Amino acid sequence: MRSHEWWQHGIIYQIYPRSFADSNADGVGDLRGILGKLDYLSWLGTDAIWISPIYPSPMADFGYDVSNYTDIHPVFGTLDEMRELIAAAHARDIKVILDFVPNHTSSEHPWFKEARRSRNSEKRDYYLWHDPAPNGGPPNNWLSVFGGSAWEWDEETGQYYYHAFLKEQPDLNWRNPRVRQQMYAAMRFWLEQGVDGFRVDVLWHLIKDAEWRDNPPNPDYVPGQAPYNQLIPAYSTDQPEIYPIVKEMRSLMNEFDERVLIGEIYLPIRRLVSYYGTAGDGAHLPFNFQLITLPWNARQIAAAIGEYEGVLPPNAWPNWVLGNHDQPRVASRIGLPQARVAAVLLLTLRGTPTLYYGDEIGMRDSVIFPEAIRDPQGKNIGISRDPARTPMQWSSATNAGFSTAEPWLPLGHGYEHCNVEGQTQAKDSMLTLYRRLIELRRKEPALCIGSYRPLVSGGDVIAFVREADTGNRFLVALNLGPRPALLPLDTLGTGQVVLATESRRESERVSGRLVLTGDDAVVVRLD
Ligand code: NOJ
Repeated sequence: MRSHEWWQHGIIYQIYPRSFADSNADGVGDLRGILGKLDYLSWLGTDAIWISPIYPSPMADFGYDVSNYTDIHPVFGTLDEMRELIAAAHARDIKVILDFVPNHTSSEHPWFKEARRSRNSEKRDYYLWHDPAPNGGPPNNWLSVFGGSAWEWDEETGQYYYHAFLKEQPDLNWRNPRVRQQMYAAMRFWLEQGVDGFRVDVLWHLIKDAEWRDNPPNPDYVPGQAPYNQLIPAYSTDQPEIYPIVKEMRSLMNEFDERVLIGEIYLPIRRLVSYYGTAGDGAHLPFNFQLITLPWNARQIAAAIGEYEGVLPPNAWPNWVLGNHDQPRVASRIGLPQARVAAVLLLTLRGTPTLYYGDEIGMRDSVIFPEAIRDPQGKNIGISRDPARTPMQWSSATNAGFSTAEPWLPLGHGYEHCNVEGQTQAKDSMLTLYRRLIELRRKEPALCIGSYRPLVSGGDVIAFVREADTGNRFLVALNLGPRPALLPLDTLGTGQVVLATESRRESERVSGRLVLTGDDAVVVRLD
């Protein structure tokens, strides 16, 4: 695998730091907490951790409202502790990826405070200000992802400012070269600290239409969806001027060895892959969220894998994501039996997998009573992300071993039975399945960096072959339905099951055809 970069053959694990491990008994996770779990992450087979924002922040959006890009929020620790964490991770061959939030700052950031002081402020143009429309209302019809107009009236200076998210998250003006310089300086600061890369928040939002044209209505909008979806964000996101910016970010990364640039981008697949750039000059990994956004249906997923493989630019490396802190957990979306199938899919597809903390033990969305909701999106539009952000379930001890104090969000139900400690030794646990899948992937170049070839299948079955340069081949067959299914192997010949969602199948010989029980997934080493 030396032919490939670490971010191609590795596995990324997302940590939502508030909820991972609390070392100082304040109910909120922190850097020392993560430090204490590095051995677990290494045992699991993690190659890199991506940590959601840890910078100083008023926490209106739990860290995605940054008030200082080059320091650490005291609730998480100190800069020295961050350095310690980087060193300790590196000592275990674990890379550290930070979340970088360039689209907007906190309204408490000194730049915004200065910018809103007066229209003549030297920082005014760091943000997006606009006079009212002729009728006195907002300059255009753009909506905030978190509900309502994306424009906030500033009484003091008599103009609106644009915020794609909360009004406490004013969008930066990325057409201003000084903004770019400042943001690149912040990235450089972390790269010099030894950080191995960034996951760039809402990368496709950075540039907006220069003429501020109205977004068109979305004819497919279904009431009950987030109000933001009433319009197609044709002018407020994904503008062509984004590419030179991604290119600038990439060339900054290229000044350092072995760094990775990941983009958070929710776009249709053909648009998404344009963020790879035209000649390897874009993001290394524009996050591919199809396994989250598509219905869990074999036909649609198989087609999406095929389309993605087909539209990847030359030399672009694929990637797959099963969950994150903004989405319902996989075990709740598709149920536990299928979450096992999904684990097999994620870890056998061609492309870098990103795991969300807790999915490896099958954590589910928790019920959070309305009065306990902390997520601003939940408070504003009723679509709360808190259920997928509850404390990591380490053991059946008090507070699931996450903290000795009451956690900032309620614990998941059933943590007494669903936790790392209880699953570590259990032969058929989700954790054992994840750990073994990761181990197999790391050991077998075919699964890790090998080619991908889809097989014709039908009904609820997805099947494909992964093959290494050496000719080593694996068949992966997944049954996304509850009923048994039969997969003819045609010319594939014979093989042996090496890993299966039902471990009793392992070492079974396969010849001519493969029988799958309902909710079953198997990896077969072909002879
Ligand atoms: C995407 C992040 O993943 C999400 O958590 C956040 O609320 C928005 N960007 C705004 O930064």
